[in-house]
Amino acid sequence: MDFASSNINKYNEINHLVSARKNSFEVTFRMMELKEIQSDSLLEVAENKVLQAFRINKKEIFVEDDGLFIEALKDFPGVYSSYVNKTIGNVGILDLLGNKVNRNASFKSIIAFHDGNKIELFTGEIKGKIGFELTTGGWGFDPIFIPENSDLTFGQMDMKTKNQISHRKVALDRFLKWYQSQG
Ligand code: IMP
Repeated sequence: MDFASSNINKYNEINHLVSARKNSFEVTFRMMELKEIQSDSLLEVAENKVLQAFRINKKEIFVEDDGLFIEALKDFPGVYSSYVNKTIGNVGILDLLGNKVNRNASFKSIIAFHDGNKIELFTGEIKGKIGFELTTGGWGFDPIFIPENSDLTFGQMDMKTKNQISHRKVALDRFLKWYQSQG
């Protein structure tokens, strides 16, 4: 099964999760720079991306789209997460939050699968908090996101630990359960 992304970190985590399953299959990385449409729905963004990916790949494929939603910032950066990560980055987010006491945030993942006929969408979410300072390790927002029931950021965890709880794992489990039930 093919997975399209421009982000090798996503593939590494997905590949690790898929290969740990029983009766598994191989996931092949298809490096693609897919356009992100402007929409206030992550689902719509993911749906549009998988259509682009299928047009290029011409066989079944899945993509994953994520967003970090910060309560005190009225769910910003949300669907703009990728842009915000590239522009103001983690330091910019910490600046925006300043010393706000409410650090609640959630990470959402949408997996979109397309086989040429139908598109299937699967969601995953993990709640947590934004730290007061950057930690080392990880990628993207990992150094500032502290998942619930943890004192460590995603950045401070090894992949195996992050993969037990992440938004990506939740969405992927739902997707694989459905996919494997299709026979
Ligand atoms: P994308 O639009 O799906 O690529 O994701 C939006 C932003 O969230 C990107 O800047 C990613 O780097 C970031 N992101 C997605 N998943 C994770 C994660 O598991 N850890 C840290 N950052 C992530």
